[in-house]
Amino acid sequence: MELRALRPLWLLCCCFGGGVRSADPRATFTATEPRSRERQASAFRESLNRHQYLNSLFPRENSSAVYGINQFSYLFPEEFKAIYLRSKSSRLPRYPAEVQTSVPNVSLPLRFDWRDKRVVTQVRNQQTCGGCWAFSVVSAVESAYAIKGKPLEDLSVQQVIDCSYNNYGCRGGSTLNALNWLNKTQVKLVRDSEYPFKAQNGLCHYFSDSQSGFSIKGYSAYDFSDQEDEMAEALLTFGPLVVVVDAVSWQDYLGGIIQHHCSSGEANHAVLITGFDKIGIADSVSAVFV
Ligand SMILES: *[C@@H]1O[C@H](CO)[C@@H](O)[C@H](O)[C@H]1NC(C)=O
Ligand SMILES: *[C@@H]1O[C@H](CO)[C@@H](O)[C@H](O)[C@H]1NC(C)=O
Ligand SMILES: *[C@@H]1O[C@H](CO)[C@@H](O)[C@H](O)[C@H]1NC(C)=O
Repeated sequence: MELRALRPLWLLCCCFGGGVRSADPRATFTATEPRSRERQASAFRESLNRHQYLNSLFPRENSSAVYGINQFSYLFPEEFKAIYLRSKSSRLPRYPAEVQTSVPNVSLPLRFDWRDKRVVTQVRNQQTCGGCWAFSVVSAVESAYAIKGKPLEDLSVQQVIDCSYNNYGCRGGSTLNALNWLNKTQVKLVRDSEYPFKAQNGLCHYFSDSQSGFSIKGYSAYDFSDQEDEMAEALLTFGPLVVVVDAVSWQDYLGGIIQHHCSSGEANHAVLITGFDKIGIADSVSAVFV
């Protein structure tokens, strides 16, 4: 099937040093490790201090995000990263001039969201599986098909977690490796109901060639640093974008728009960008097209 949509890999520049270590698939911390009450209490106290600090950063601005107690407050930041932030980023070429000129002159609205067009599936919970990279790529494929006029369907994230041999399943992965695997093998993603999410690694289940499914024809990946308008145009032209961000500060997030609390660390969390709001658009660094 024809498929041509754009999926940028973003990096929000955010400040966190030494972050990559816990994204290592061999990281010793596991989500199932029992955690003492003392350890949880200590993590909670640290979270409260962090919330106070984060909330004090930009108090007078309407658009700043609010930080506080949520389901992640009993984790130390390194634990949060080890469980949830398991996407690897890649160095990518700059978004080139040739692509820019091939994008038709679209006038950029102040606000746009593909969810309003009903071509984006519901947000799914990765639970304690570090498979964000698979979720974002699968969501992008779902949207690309829906934008082409096909029915919007939940496709199998578990299939990507189990079968994308160039990644580490729930222990982490790269959106670029996953896209490369999809493109190279021309594997057909089956529906989520046919290969449901288990939140853990499993053996790859292969389907016969006659099995119906969703494959991709190609993709492109670019670095969109300092090219937010180009990125917004690309999103408008091609569809939701797979991006990788530094989500360390998301541990404490309650609501609002994170605009300034960016770090210079590694990108570590893959998400799908479905739209933008010119008042609150974030810093982007890189992108992938399907
Ligand atoms: C904050 O929001 C209020 C109401 O929406 C608006 O009148 C005011 O100009 C905003 N202030 C800033 C600094 O953006
Ligand atoms: C795109 O817009 C620019 C400036 O608005 C204009 O000069 C150019 O001719 C337009 N290109 C096309 C293909 O419409
Ligand atoms: C996707 O696969 C096609 C066909 O094998 C290949 O020509 C193309 O270069 C691939 N795209 C990327 C980005 O690797």
